[in-house]
Amino acid sequence: MGVGVTFTFQQIGPATLYLGDCAEVLRALPRVDAVVCDPPYGIGASAGVGKYGRLKVEAEGDLGWDTAAPSVDLMSAVLAAADRAVIFGGNYFDLPPSRNFLIWDKGAGFKGRDFAECEFAWCSWDANARVLTYDPLARGDYKGKQHPTQKPVTVMEWCIRHAGMPETILDPFMGSGTTRVAAVRLGRKFIGIEREPKYFEIACRRIEDAQRQESLFEPEAPKAEQMGFAL
Ligand SMILES: C[S@@+](CC[C@H](N)C(=O)[O-])C[C@H]1O[C@@H](n2cnc3c(N)ncnc32)[C@H](O)[C@@H]1O
Repeated sequence: MGVGVTFTFQQIGPATLYLGDCAEVLRALPRVDAVVCDPPYGIGASAGVGKYGRLKVEAEGDLGWDTAAPSVDLMSAVLAAADRAVIFGGNYFDLPPSRNFLIWDKGAGFKGRDFAECEFAWCSWDANARVLTYDPLARGDYKGKQHPTQKPVTVMEWCIRHAGMPETILDPFMGSGTTRVAAVRLGRKFIGIEREPKYFEIACRRIEDAQRQESLFEPEAPKAEQMGFAL
């Protein structure tokens, strides 16, 4: 048992959202069906690099979460947390060889944009690699973007489907909660962890909104509860 280790969590419908460092929170969690996540790549994206990554919230300064990729030990803990893993930025981390990659083609070829034209999600089980061409700018996904590296909900839905529609999904690097919004749409249970209070709050609001929309035809919308933890 750790002494002085604290984190808090909120329960929003079938989603449990932890505010804390996933290195600590993961030790307290049971194993789940799948991890679907987008860790820091360690490329300075928290500063809002690139024309389309920039946000008005940049004025508040770089929160510094992307100065380094997670340690080997942390990535091992993430992999050990679930039966299957889909890890964005798999080309940045020291992961075992896999032929099962999800390649998100941003549909940006030859349009003079200043970000990578695709991203790679490493998958832990054996299957054929797949490609999704999806242009978030053409689809209007980045209107009201709230996190410098926010993923489109459609892309995260694709990842969950590829993982076989697992019942419970864990995202230890939750950011603005995109994986959870995708999980709500697909009727999955979700556990999310985020260390930055600013993004944790954004994730809670996005998730409540998604949950409310899902609950429109239910008699009562689920209420958020705030709880504390001390190990
Ligand atoms: C690449 S972003 C995820 C963005 C997310 N996919 C979205 O759509 O909003 C990674 C997030 O992980 C968080 N993070 C970094 N290290 C963490 C840690 N050890 N524990 C929990 N969260 C962490 C950062 O604050 C950042 O918001």
